[in-house]
Amino acid sequence: MDPNRVLIFDTTLRDGEQSPGISLNTAEKLEIAHQLARLGVDVIEAGFPITSPGDFEAVQAISREVEGPIIAGLARTHVADIDAAWEAVKEAERPRIHTFISTSDIHIEHQLQTTREDVKGQARAAVAHAKQYCTDVEFSPMDATRADLDFTAEGCAIAVEEGATTINIPDTVGYTMPAEYTAYLERLYALVPGLRDVVLSVHCHDDLGMAVANSLAGVMAGARQVECAVNGIGERAGNASLEEIVMLLRTRGDAIGGVHTELNSRELARSSRLVSRLTGYVVQPNKAIVGRNAFAHESGIHQDGVLKERETYEIMDATTVGLDSNAIVLGKHSGRHALRQALEDLGFTVSGQALNQAFARFKEIADRKKQVTAMDLEAIVTDELREEIAGYTLEWFDVEASSRRPPHATVGVRSPEGTEMTGSFTGDGPVDAIFHAINSATGIEAKLREFRVDAVTAGQDALGETSVVLELDGRSASGQGVSTDIIEAAGRAYVRALSNAVRRRDVAEREALEPSAL
Ligand code: KIV
Ligand code: ZN
Repeated sequence: MDPNRVLIFDTTLRDGEQSPGISLNTAEKLEIAHQLARLGVDVIEAGFPITSPGDFEAVQAISREVEGPIIAGLARTHVADIDAAWEAVKEAERPRIHTFISTSDIHIEHQLQTTREDVKGQARAAVAHAKQYCTDVEFSPMDATRADLDFTAEGCAIAVEEGATTINIPDTVGYTMPAEYTAYLERLYALVPGLRDVVLSVHCHDDLGMAVANSLAGVMAGARQVECAVNGIGERAGNASLEEIVMLLRTRGDAIGGVHTELNSRELARSSRLVSRLTGYVVQPNKAIVGRNAFAHESGIHQDGVLKERETYEIMDATTVGLDSNAIVLGKHSGRHALRQALEDLGFTVSGQALNQAFARFKEIADRKKQVTAMDLEAIVTDELREEIAGYTLEWFDVEASSRRPPHATVGVRSPEGTEMTGSFTGDGPVDAIFHAINSATGIEAKLREFRVDAVTAGQDALGETSVVLELDGRSASGQGVSTDIIEAAGRAYVRALSNAVRRRDVAEREALEPSAL
């Protein structure tokens, strides 16, 4: 392999999915995995198969369907975890088992309640077991940056001896700093000569806002795999942001010995939108690379400079991250063929019933909106995808809003079993009224935690995109909706969040009866 190539290991669907409130189902995970393949990531960590039947099913579906990247499944060092990970990834073109165990004393004593000797034994047995199934095995000494370096090196040496092909050094709690991490990895190379024969990987969390800087320090020390997530989602403050890593190496790689990735950076903006839409995690406007304002110039001096020569105030061209992709425009006279072609240009293969449904939805929106752009199509198709999997659906609603009377809403909601239920409520505002009316129709007392409305594109007739986070029995779940009418978008988002919350509650109840391996 090219010694300067840095592999991008995407963990949006595993570490990213562990973020509070994110509850992706298999169809949504598949959609993201297909987009990651279009983006050209080298590895997709598709999930942690032992944790739930849903996770297992999603990893298996991605392994069966998604071509191109290596598909990895996460496993603790337990035999059952490794068996489940293998079962889930074995049909992938290129499967990988990723196994981990902590090497820090704080984890060994308090969480694992075991000894260093036992940890070494578990690491050896796990890699050896995984190796019986799969040639591609990754080993991670969790919390490595707070662990004793000599002991972590012993663990890594054992993993290499047993045949691990990638050694990943996680900064699990986002504690390290660039110079310290570089020194750590350089010392590790010195202590584990076999490390030169495998791929060294970095996995950095953002608790102190250092995840990207630390990952870069890792690359400078010799790491050739970076673990990261789209929009930087992940446990707590998240993981290193994939788009920042990719554009950093693309823009400044020559200053660090010519390191580079093989990703198609033009798919970055779209990947970011898809992940944001499906997870309900908004991208802050000033987020590097994919934020709405990342390429916007406000001050007159800057605008003047950019008009004269773009490079006066831009170190990257917005087109290289895919921010010019709003060229497709359809109108209410566009036919099924034009829609299908536009969807194909966007990378969606839609035919049969799915095309009919997308066309009906497109017509409904094109009637209300003059022009339907690429961004609108993306939003509609993603919204339709959710329709198929939602448990409850909003069939109809009436909302009366006036400045002289309290707003009143009546709704019809179809249950997962197909029964139509109605409910009504007089609320503080029209959105509050429709949310409570849905609670009343379903008989589920969920509590609203967050509600957001965004416009998909600019302009007065823009599609509204809403996101709802609600809480049911102490668990949070999110849902999103798209429509030209924001009350309708809000209602759709609420029933989806409710469906996700109910699904989560049911899984938790089942797991309480038959505890899973975690
Ligand atoms: O942060 C971490 O240590 C992890 C491991 C499972 C690699 O996510
Ligand atoms: Zn992590």
